[in-house]
Amino acid sequence: MNAVNLEAYARDGFLVIEDFLPQADCDALQARAAELVAEFDPGSVRTVFSTRDQGHARDRYFQESGQAIHFFFEEGATDQPVSLALNKIGHALHDLDPVFDHISRRPQFAALAHSLGLEEPLLLQSMYLFKQPRIGAEVGWHQDATYLCTQPSTVTGFWIALDDADKENGCLMALPGAHRGPLRERFRQVGSEMATEILDTTPWPDIEPVALDAKRGALVVLHGLLPHASAPNRSPRQRHAYALHLIDARADYLPDNWLQRPGLPLRGFA
Ligand code: FE2
Repeated sequence: MNAVNLEAYARDGFLVIEDFLPQADCDALQARAAELVAEFDPGSVRTVFSTRDQGHARDRYFQESGQAIHFFFEEGATDQPVSLALNKIGHALHDLDPVFDHISRRPQFAALAHSLGLEEPLLLQSMYLFKQPRIGAEVGWHQDATYLCTQPSTVTGFWIALDDADKENGCLMALPGAHRGPLRERFRQVGSEMATEILDTTPWPDIEPVALDAKRGALVVLHGLLPHASAPNRSPRQRHAYALHLIDARADYLPDNWLQRPGLPLRGFA
């Protein structure tokens, strides 16, 4: 692996590394995701997501996805076939599916995690993101530490483009350098519910967002406090991506994070 530009990462809060994942591995992830979708029986899940009074069932399906492979639909995507209606698959693909496990634990990812200062990296969360043609939804501005909080903050995102991602099909957008600001919100468990807690009302800094164009196989590293977003995909081109979130085992993983894995201990790269 080429030297990681730690100076740029410290300055900007993100890195785009071209040609990180070989094309054959991009093929393998896309083919495996297609198989998982083909095997998935959408009946009950679609009911959970289409019926208004299913709030609790929906929350439970989401919460249980921390240690499972669950399927999430685009809101309002009722006419499309399942393969064109899904928003994402999550959140333990990297531990429960052999293909995702193998590729997520490539030595190159481990080496990069160590270069970034994660001394005891743990693979916490994985998501296969579809960003479907024409209906792929926007993801609003957020910090990943809102969802996956350790003290001190160590969450780091590895986002891999499985299709060329650009402004037309909803690539990542980021506010360079804004990872040096505070964590604004936490999404956490309060009793049996999940709620967003405001921690700091500092607005996002007045910086021009940058589009993180990423060719297929490129890796985007995202600092856990970096505000980022992605626009809706209005184009006819899909924009699949695979996102992996790491934490450092030396930090405390907060017990009220939404993602808990009582039945599936976290693993590192070994
Ligand atoms: Fe994110």
